[in-house]
Amino acid sequence: MAQRRNPYRTAPGSEPPELSGRAGELGAAHYAIDMTRERAPANPIVFTGLRGMGKTALLRRVARDAAAVGGISIVGEADASLRFGDVMRRELSDALKRTEPLPARLSTSIARIIEKLPKLSYEMPHQAGSIGIAGRGDGEEDDLHAANSLEDVLLLLNEQLHRHGRFLVIGLDEIQESSRVDLLRIVRAVHKTAGTDSPILFVGAGLPDSPAVLKGVRTYTERWAYYRLELLTPEATREAIDKPARELGTRWTHDALRHVYDMSRGYPYFLQAFASAAWLRHTGDTVRADDVVAIAPGVQRMLDESVYDRQFVAVSPREAAVVLALHTLGPGAHRLEEIAGALNLESSADLGSVRSQLLKKDIIYAPARGLAEFRLPLTVEYIDRQIDALRKRARLAQSFQ
Ligand SMILES: Nc1ncnc2c1ncn2[C@@H]1O[C@H](COP(=O)(O)OP(=O)(O)OP(=O)(O)O)[C@@H](O)[C@H]1O
Ligand SMILES: [Mg+2]
Repeated sequence: MAQRRNPYRTAPGSEPPELSGRAGELGAAHYAIDMTRERAPANPIVFTGLRGMGKTALLRRVARDAAAVGGISIVGEADASLRFGDVMRRELSDALKRTEPLPARLSTSIARIIEKLPKLSYEMPHQAGSIGIAGRGDGEEDDLHAANSLEDVLLLLNEQLHRHGRFLVIGLDEIQESSRVDLLRIVRAVHKTAGTDSPILFVGAGLPDSPAVLKGVRTYTERWAYYRLELLTPEATREAIDKPARELGTRWTHDALRHVYDMSRGYPYFLQAFASAAWLRHTGDTVRADDVVAIAPGVQRMLDESVYDRQFVAVSPREAAVVLALHTLGPGAHRLEEIAGALNLESSADLGSVRSQLLKKDIIYAPARGLAEFRLPLTVEYIDRQIDALRKRARLAQSFQ
């Protein structure tokens, strides 16, 4: 019984039962939605953060909230071969099928745009601007004839929506993975409409290097609004766990909640995993500390295996030495000079190729020039658990000693 009603969500990208601790980000997004609805351009919003911090969950929530007040949200996940035309076709088809019917003329316009999209997306990735979209013989025909790139189709769709009192929201997840060409078209379409009374709202999400990826496409994106998602506070963690349970008539003891916080450190992905496992073990209407104590080692092992081990089992002795040096500096970003210093090296240049190997293995990333940070949240804590093995490996290194 309890198993079936488990309110916690452990799947990546799943919307948690309680989107806790993100009131500031949601407030900013709601303000941007209101502005767009009132035909005033809002600054595009981008949620950044390390893996599992809740970027996708937040992006989906914002898209849903926009749709609830008349927005048509197109949400896609970028990858190097993203065909945003395909994403648009799917999302627009969904919008047409939703329960609340769109005005007939708007539905017809959208259906016509969808009809033209397969051809567009089929040819788009490398043939920017060379695709013709044929019209069908009424008022929009000229526009459809003129529309010859993703950018144009977005602008046309946006115009149609505003004409019917609706607005367009483009959500793009995993921005750091975007193909440059598609990203440029989307950014340009958004930017163009910011100078009109028919603005498009852009909401993005991605790893902390996303701002640099956007800047590489257009420098004006530096002035967009970036929100970095961090670990949840103890209170927000408690709320994320306690509130959904209360709604099902179950309570968590104070100690049980504190124990989940101690295990998860407010990392959204972890807190859902610990809360879910403890929920599956509890009996009656209370989740107790001993439920959490009982499941904690198994969940921790499972998370270590699925999140970190893959990357860390294969580190070379020299890589292990650099990882340990970064570990001694603690969580967050550190200057390469500091890391070199921790290894008693003269300069950061002596880190040599090890740094680039760690970047390639996704163990670290460069949040800005001259900085390095662990790619995964709570890596410092993971290394605490693995310290003996890593030290042993580092001792085999020929240099850095
Ligand atoms: N504010 C929150 N409160 C509680 N749980 C959350 C919150 N945000 C996200 N979660 C949960 O955390 C997990 C990770 O969320 P999500 O997949 O959105 O992270 P992400 O930042 O997009 O990760 P990735 O970088 O891997 O794409 C999911 O199980 C989700 O339900
Ligand atoms: Mg995500």
